[in-house]
Amino acid sequence: MVYKPYVLEGVSMLLAEPLSLGTITLRNRLVMPPMAVKKGDDGTITPRVMNYYEERVKDGVFGLVITEHCYVSSTGQASPGQLSLSRDSDIEGLSQLVAMIHGCGMPVFAQINHAGGKSLLTGGASTSPAPSPRNFLTTPGDPVVSHAMTQEEIDQVIDDFAAAARRAKQAGYDGVEIHSAHEYLLNEFYSPITNQRDDAYTGSTLEGRIRLHCQIIQAVREAVGKDYPMSLRLGALDYAEGSSTIEDAVQACQRFEQEGVDMLSISGGLCGYRKPDAKGEGYFGEESQAVKQAVSIPVLLTGGVRTKEGAEQLLAEGKADLIGVGRPVFKSGSWAPEEFADLLK
Ligand SMILES: Cc1cc2nc3c(=O)[nH]c(=O)nc-3n(C[C@H](O)[C@H](O)[C@H](O)COP(=O)(O)O)c2cc1C
Repeated sequence: MVYKPYVLEGVSMLLAEPLSLGTITLRNRLVMPPMAVKKGDDGTITPRVMNYYEERVKDGVFGLVITEHCYVSSTGQASPGQLSLSRDSDIEGLSQLVAMIHGCGMPVFAQINHAGGKSLLTGGASTSPAPSPRNFLTTPGDPVVSHAMTQEEIDQVIDDFAAAARRAKQAGYDGVEIHSAHEYLLNEFYSPITNQRDDAYTGSTLEGRIRLHCQIIQAVREAVGKDYPMSLRLGALDYAEGSSTIEDAVQACQRFEQEGVDMLSISGGLCGYRKPDAKGEGYFGEESQAVKQAVSIPVLLTGGVRTKEGAEQLLAEGKADLIGVGRPVFKSGSWAPEEFADLLK
């Protein structure tokens, strides 16, 4: 779907500039990033989920909405109430959500995820799937021990991501985002702290740590076709001993671009969406800027942005091409239309 570019008359604002993203054009640079509402019923949309999104998108302030992470298989569910894209029967409910957001004039991406070592133990499992054995806490906070995934399990996950992306497209989503941040499965393969493997996915080389990402990108591309926008959210650094480095993030993102990703979203790794000890607007800005300078696809920066001026400054400094605003939007549907009133149609 092509959205009509929108330019504010007489107002020079980087945030208000349209942006081409694969086959679609975003009306402005403000993004509602994925945030789990956890109000689904057995993975399906409920009226509470619809109401949550409707309250936040009805004013049409965002250039792009990315809905919360959906699990690609029941073995990779992060929390009760999380939405699913693991079954064809999920398509119908999500298509209603997409139609509602389109009705408010905005394109919308689905985020697809496997929770890896942090997965809930479902179907009688006693351990969670991860690159290597390790103690994890699930998102609700329960301790869980992981096992090293077999090649068969890895192949299944690749298929599951591809099938979930295909379902997202069938539900009418304008694009799909692969989640590789916040200590979930792909982040666990990427981080040398959680990846202790010594096979083709070895944790001792960047090539090994992003092998699964590249396989998933290729499988998703095959499932959705060459023109369908695809984003990848990277938990660039863990900010802990043995963490991946900024050079790793840059090289990984260059590789993801070569593999056919259309957009990169920069966030935290094993540390989650907060950067330890960092405050201020755009606290992953150093990382997103390094990536932006090394790739030619749009880069999204999210974390700590609380003002229109702050967002504008981050764009002016070349920290990113798009700015996400999370928690204030999660808390209130009226915050973004008030703070970013200049962007309203
Ligand atoms: C309640 C909540 C749920 C979140 N769920 C997700 C998610 O599903 N996927 C994801 O990539 N990030 C998720 N995040 C992280 C946000 O996308 C964002 O990166 C984070 O809130 C930092 O940005 P902020 O400082 O503007 O809030 C979540 C954050 C919150 C507060």
